[in-house]
Amino acid sequence: MSLISSDADGIERMRAAAREAQQHPARSLPGYFYRSAVVYEEELSRIIYRSWLCAGHLSQIPNVGDFFQYEVDEDAFIVTRAEDGSVHALVNSCRHRGARVCEEAAGNRSSFVCPYHGWTYALDGSLRGARHMDRQAAFCASDAGLRHLRVIVRHGLIFVNADPQAADFSAVLDQIDSALAPYELAHAKIAHRELYRVEANWKLALENYLECYHCATSHRSYALSHSIKDISTRIAPLRAALWERAARLTGVDGVTSTSDFCYDQETAFGSSVWNNRYALFEGYQTASRDGRAVAPLMGQFRGYDGGAGDFQIGPLAFMLNYPDHCVLYRFTPRGLRSTDMEVLWFVRADAEEGRDYDRAALTWLWDTTTREDEYIISRNSAGVNSRFYEPGPLQPDFEYIEIRFIRWYLGILAGNTANSSS
Ligand code: FES
Ligand SMILES: [Fe+2]
Repeated sequence: MSLISSDADGIERMRAAAREAQQHPARSLPGYFYRSAVVYEEELSRIIYRSWLCAGHLSQIPNVGDFFQYEVDEDAFIVTRAEDGSVHALVNSCRHRGARVCEEAAGNRSSFVCPYHGWTYALDGSLRGARHMDRQAAFCASDAGLRHLRVIVRHGLIFVNADPQAADFSAVLDQIDSALAPYELAHAKIAHRELYRVEANWKLALENYLECYHCATSHRSYALSHSIKDISTRIAPLRAALWERAARLTGVDGVTSTSDFCYDQETAFGSSVWNNRYALFEGYQTASRDGRAVAPLMGQFRGYDGGAGDFQIGPLAFMLNYPDHCVLYRFTPRGLRSTDMEVLWFVRADAEEGRDYDRAALTWLWDTTTREDEYIISRNSAGVNSRFYEPGPLQPDFEYIEIRFIRWYLGILAGNTANSSS
């Protein structure tokens, strides 16, 4: 049992704890990593802000001047559409004395005017005006634009990275493209989005997503339709049958292509990608209560194969894509013990609510499942925050991705991997 004394905490303590935990590679993380403010701050600078994060979708900013805010921890970024159509992710902190320059969650503006002393910024973040600052000889307006993150757009999805040295995500995204592109997400719209804030450390929320060991016990509805609640040897025949029919029934050649470049096998830091397709149980075309379609077919899909496309796109974002709708799942740290789990449901852009889909039917399974997750994650948080919690053994068939996540994570904090910055 390790008791954390807050005044003994620091970088050296964190490194030592990470190295110690590395000696037990198939165990859950020690409580220290969920409880230490030092660890959390280091995670933000070493992991979160060096990773490719999914900020949103182009359909949120279709017109010049449209913007929305993306919040991570205590930071806010304004994602804008500028006059030339380009997308920018601006740090919402004035270059004068740091005030927020925008309070609305989303909207349309021609510029951002800081409410404090009136400095004005263009949609691309450049400084347009700073009252009376021309009297300061040393002041250089071109150096005083809002700070910005790097941006990459793929299939309408907007990815950002705070690290100017981060490797180009585009090349990595090519690895999952043959399976992801046919959904034509650039021509999709967000039918519904829901924010679930869970009072737990971000790793607990993420780790819960990385394994389906809990699906049979915690997700009754999901387990009725999705085969990965069972151990892989048991569902191998279902998978083989899916592989045989998937391309033929969907009309999509690359639908069964797979890739695995996540966490300890990522090709560039903060750019984890992974994809697979798994079988739904017989009678299920899609993720719905009765198994029947809940929206028109997406993109290039011409039919149902009884399968679901499972994607990881960056270390904290995932998609579960069915022939008729796609579900994006992302995790965002909002504090040491607070995490936003956000779910976005996509349908094709020309689908009309009420005519082509019913919102309640569309969102039923993943809303139900996420509320169940919210509960078990909060219970997990309460348990690991007990001073009497000790790491336990992971189940290698079901929890292998979690084992790999922990290996990746501890390597970064221990400062002993090529990817970590010390
Ligand atoms: S803090 Fe923005 S203008 Fe002064
Ligand atoms: Fe779950």
